[in-house]
Amino acid sequence: MTQMRTGRRKYYDIFSHFYDAFIRMHSRQDEDDTRGFLVNAAHLEHKPGARILDICCGTGSVVLTFAERHPEASAIIGTDFSHGMLRRAREKNRAGRVVFIEGDAAKLPFADDSFDAVSCSHALYELKGETRQKALHEMKRVIKPDGVVLLMEHEVPQKPLIRFLFRIRMLTLGSKDAREFMGDGEHLKKIFPHVELSHSRTGKSKLMSCRK
Ligand SMILES: C[S@@+](CC[C@H](N)C(=O)[O-])C[C@H]1O[C@@H](n2cnc3c(N)ncnc32)[C@H](O)[C@@H]1O
Repeated sequence: MTQMRTGRRKYYDIFSHFYDAFIRMHSRQDEDDTRGFLVNAAHLEHKPGARILDICCGTGSVVLTFAERHPEASAIIGTDFSHGMLRRAREKNRAGRVVFIEGDAAKLPFADDSFDAVSCSHALYELKGETRQKALHEMKRVIKPDGVVLLMEHEVPQKPLIRFLFRIRMLTLGSKDAREFMGDGEHLKKIFPHVELSHSRTGKSKLMSCRK
């Protein structure tokens, strides 16, 4: 693992102690709507025994929502490279239905075509340069031919001050990345032939549903 990645991992180990409180304060109950929106978009209701993977799962909010809504799923896995984030996720996994695995998004320890749904929520911008491309190719590799990869990202905020701060944050990623993250997912078509864009009811998140 590169030095920068080790630094990010340590940052998230520390952030894990107040990550959930920070998200609650920032988004209040919108967070539940947003997670539900992602989980519904997987359309797993007709796939009993589905296999579900959430990468960069953090403290587990999305993958635990999958577990709640899909008691019939046969495998539900969350992966992240931060030990601290995963420790918190495991504490929340009271029903014990989710398996959490520590690892890098750029190298997933799963066979080809092994999941019905793969999600990555509010984390792609965390993956720099090569790592992001590798992670996207890994998601494509592990999804079944009729499965879906769900990539959720922030919308450009409406409130002027927040929008200004958001744009500055995006520009720290470099102008090409900033354009892509503020766009409609067109760049993902270089990897996934089918990309469908939708918007959460709260207007705060957008979802790219990608198929191979
Ligand atoms: C902003 S948090 C999002 C967490 C969660 N998906 C959510 O929606 O609450 C980003 C997460 O990505 C993880 N992460 C960043 N780079 C990673 C990498 N290269 N491999 C695996 N996880 C990574 C961090 O540890 C962190 O938990």
